[in-house]
Amino acid sequence: MPVRSKNVSALKAGYLFPEIARLRREFAAKNPDKKIISLGVGNTTEPLLPHTCEGLVEGAKKLGDAKTYSGYADEGFSELRGAISRVFYNDTFAADEIFISDGAKCDIGRLQLLFGSSVKPVVQDPSYPVYVDGSVLHGAAGRRISSCDGPDCDDTRYGGIEYLPCTPENNFFPDLSQIPYNSLIYFCSPNNPTGAVASKGQLAALVAAAKRTNSIIIFDAAYSEYIRDPSLPKTIFEISSAKTCAIEVNSFSKHAGFTGVRLGWTVVPKELLYSGGESVNADWSRVQSTIFNGASNIAQWGALAALDDAGRTEIKTLTDFYLGNAALIRKALQVLHITCYGGENSPYIWAHFPGRGSWDVFNEFLEKKHIVTTPGVGFGPEGESFIRFSAFGHRDDVIEACNRLVKV
Ligand SMILES: Cc1ncc(COP(=O)(O)O)c(C=O)c1O
Repeated sequence: MPVRSKNVSALKAGYLFPEIARLRREFAAKNPDKKIISLGVGNTTEPLLPHTCEGLVEGAKKLGDAKTYSGYADEGFSELRGAISRVFYNDTFAADEIFISDGAKCDIGRLQLLFGSSVKPVVQDPSYPVYVDGSVLHGAAGRRISSCDGPDCDDTRYGGIEYLPCTPENNFFPDLSQIPYNSLIYFCSPNNPTGAVASKGQLAALVAAAKRTNSIIIFDAAYSEYIRDPSLPKTIFEISSAKTCAIEVNSFSKHAGFTGVRLGWTVVPKELLYSGGESVNADWSRVQSTIFNGASNIAQWGALAALDDAGRTEIKTLTDFYLGNAALIRKALQVLHITCYGGENSPYIWAHFPGRGSWDVFNEFLEKKHIVTTPGVGFGPEGESFIRFSAFGHRDDVIEACNRLVKV
């Protein structure tokens, strides 16, 4: 039999969200009379919006008609790539700099193929788990370091990854002087899990740090449509010099409810070159056409509807709705005098419980309030003593959860 890949065996045994789901199932089995409300995972809950849904239905009909049928769409409909450039990037990218995919997570997982196992991954700590786990799978994470033996040891780190602490003390923006040369810097804003949003000045400093260290930034803008403060940047490319040092991933999941439809995109500027002068854009095209056969045509028609005027209006209403949930959760936590961050230009609220373990707080919320949250330590060692609340939920459930929270 073939042996197990060293990279796969180096992963922590349980991915965070299946582990939370397991604990929830266990609690539900023991307490069948209790209604559990989930404010834990970042899965959208509201139905697809009518105009966008119409686009999907029309797309399906096109596939059922010989006159409009289409097969593989390679790197995406050029019309959709153009619409993304217009709506999100002020038309500053050509269609062939935007690659349509089946979602941001899939692209994040594949992007490291471009850089091999010798690149130095740099992550914010805490961070969305796929940056670390993807690096482990690509063999770039180095030795696993844990203070205990168990496969799920909470303080697991990898010796080859540079972790940049993002804490209340530094306003959730890391010390950029810690970035090594030739790094691949994963940066997420609005941030999952902390809800922090980097300012334009901070992104300019990040770009300058990447250039100084000959590094490339993978900027995850999956929550950009939750930004309401007009002074906050929605894309790394608001810093014009980022075109020579950054790739951006984004997705229709969190603003158009496409978590189950699946559609995202990655911007790889033509100006972005490896140290040897080769084009990263050309390589990404080669990699994608080799191991990915393009996103669903139906999803792309839906996305085109989501990007026209009627679609954009619907999306604003939907993201306003989730931000309304976030405001309710923030208010309930404030009544309890729990210090919390985020939730204003982001659907995540990062609540601090100094001196306590985050799994301990998670269990307390589950057992006493029957509310599922996400333990902060699951996002990295600096997440210990925090838990994440997600604003993705039905309004009635959010209101009931908030009432349970404030009830002594
Ligand atoms: C920061 C971040 N990026 C990407 C994703 C995944 O996006 P997609 O559904 O397009 O794969 C998530 C999902 O939770 C996320 O939190």
